Amino acid sequence: MSTEAAAGGVPRRALLKLSGEALLGERKYGIDPEIARRIAGEAAEAHREGTQVAIVVGGGNIFRGLAAASRGMDRATADYMGMLATVMNGLALQDALEQAGAPTRVMSAIAMNEICEPYIKRRAVRHLEKGRVVVMVAGTGNPYFTTDTAATLRAVEIGAEVILKATRVDGVYDADPEKQPDARRYTRIGYTEVLSNRLQALDATAVSLAMDNRMPIVVFDMTVDGNILRALRGEVIGTLISDEVPA
Ligand code: GTP
Repeated sequence: MSTEAAAGGVPRRALLKLSGEALLGERKYGIDPEIARRIAGEAAEAHREGTQVAIVVGGGNIFRGLAAASRGMDRATADYMGMLATVMNGLALQDALEQAGAPTRVMSAIAMNEICEPYIKRRAVRHLEKGRVVVMVAGTGNPYFTTDTAATLRAVEIGAEVILKATRVDGVYDADPEKQPDARRYTRIGYTEVLSNRLQALDATAVSLAMDNRMPIVVFDMTVDGNILRALRGEVIGTLISDEVPA
């Protein structure tokens, strides 16, 4: 799994991680159909160009488990509700992807066979090989794990070459760019630097899992039209988190 491929070449198989917030658009709650259409259109285009696309989607646009836990709800219960929210987003994405012409299968880490398939690694890989976009929902199926960790786990399992983390910021900064206007954006950064500086791009569990498995992560701004397609084409955008970067 070369970082060069992640930084430059077109990945053969990529895992796109979408936060639930990515689906909000200008809304405060729920799914903006226009945004879902745009995301799906770009992912479907990359799929047509030959990249195998797996998607892990969060649920924060519907229910934020951590926020509920911080207000006193039992953390595990809050996380399970968050996982259910990701299923709704997955179904919305499936609908949008299929309208954009990409056959799609939704696979859930929590069995709900009337709604979608159970996540089975070998079956997920088979779907990708058969030219289907696979949307993976319900996180890892366990509380206390974020969608970023679920995305990393699934990327490693299915042998993706890169994780493309779509967010609202254009990469990893050395400080919060919304609070410190002079914050510097990294083009490339090592896993240990992200961990030791406690940079907020991804949670530590996700970063260390990626590090152990040498899984490159690209953090990029999905609010810019065309960026999801650019990322899926392996164009250099945002920040590449990978093995140590020479000083
Ligand atoms: P192949 O067998 O590789 O051709 O894959 P396939 O997904 O086309 O075939 P399958 O007959 O397994 O599935 C047909 C349809 O049923 C697909 O849309 C699947 O997503 C769906 N499906 C398969 N298993 C389940 C399940 O457990 N629950 C639900 N709700 N749908 C399922």
